[in-house]
Amino acid sequence: MKLVIAGATGLVGQEILKVLQEHKIKMDELIPVASEKSIGKIIKFDDDREFKICSFEEALSKNPDAAIFSAGKDVSLKWAPEFAKRKIKVIDNSSAWRMHKEIKLVVPEVNAEQLNQNDYIIANPNCSTIQLVVVLWPLHKIFGLKRIIISTYQSVSGSGYKGINQLFSERNNEVVENPSYPYQIDLNCIPHGGAFLENDYTEEEMKLVNESSKIMSIPDLKISGTVVRVPVIGGHSESVNIEFQKAPDIQEIKSILKSSPGIILEDNPRENEYPMPLNARGKDAVFVGRIRKDLSNENAVNLWIVADNLRKGAATNAVQILEYLLKTNLL
Ligand SMILES: NC(=O)c1ccc[n+]([C@@H]2O[C@H](COP(=O)([O-])OP(=O)(O)OC[C@H]3O[C@@H](n4cnc5c(N)ncnc54)[C@H](OP(=O)(O)O)[C@@H]3O)[C@@H](O)[C@H]2O)c1
Repeated sequence: MKLVIAGATGLVGQEILKVLQEHKIKMDELIPVASEKSIGKIIKFDDDREFKICSFEEALSKNPDAAIFSAGKDVSLKWAPEFAKRKIKVIDNSSAWRMHKEIKLVVPEVNAEQLNQNDYIIANPNCSTIQLVVVLWPLHKIFGLKRIIISTYQSVSGSGYKGINQLFSERNNEVVENPSYPYQIDLNCIPHGGAFLENDYTEEEMKLVNESSKIMSIPDLKISGTVVRVPVIGGHSESVNIEFQKAPDIQEIKSILKSSPGIILEDNPRENEYPMPLNARGKDAVFVGRIRKDLSNENAVNLWIVADNLRKGAATNAVQILEYLLKTNLL
């Protein structure tokens, strides 16, 4: 397989390279693409193989089989259709195509079977949405979702290199060039992710609402969110209140989650065992814990979900889509 990795020098692109190697995806040629300033730089793969970063034009001229894009929305809007036109499948990490009617938005644990031969652009959801639906979906199948209230605690790596640079520049008392956030993030929490919309929610909050509903095919899903950026380097955390159609049994919830794909149950609070972003870093799984009854509503539970936003929130999910395409001969 000849695979294009667009955004190969970025936080997500670098993680994709690691996941491809860990998952032992066989690669005849890797075609890394980045912005003009990176063209010609070398990307190492499989210890001893070296590939030169090139432009999109050159990448297309090499007749790749597939591409994973992580180079921002504008790049995806411009270049994904050029690949699709040539029948090259694109798995896109940006927000460009996620809510497009004709484009599938895929989390393999939930809806990969919707994919078919004619899907040339496949959208990878927003990081916070992916870890949420991996947990909601198996519970929905048994108890039926009624309403979800979520607050997120999102790390700075969710904003790419700029987010990490801002946190460390502030910590080192250096001038922050080109900040990601409107306020200091170190020693702070900022209840603001993406632009504010007319309804007073932010773009990131509405991604949770719209993308969750699309992935699980529940058009009237009732979900309300608050997105908060916190001074954590990597790993997003979510406090989630889920109301079901019928009263759930807590032990049954735990056993469903324990046996569901992609999830690790970490729920032994008396021994101080619960998910934390520090422990989730570099791991593919979604971690869930602090599962308890909502004492104010017999049909509802509270739980705490953590995943590495660069892994399951981006790179791992994209590589799992690629693996699904390979396994089902859709590539
Ligand atoms: N960070 C996350 O947790 C996360 C999660 C899910 C989805 N995403 C999405 O993934 C994408 C990348 O995010 P990131 O965090 O990896 O950002 P990043 O660290 O800032 O990296 C951006 C990448 O895009 C490349 N790029 C920028 N402009 C380009 C152009 N005109 N042509 C080709 N390549 C270009 C950059 O290349 P240079 O190094 O040459 O500038 C770099 O490789 C974004 O769309 C983001 O929304 C991110």
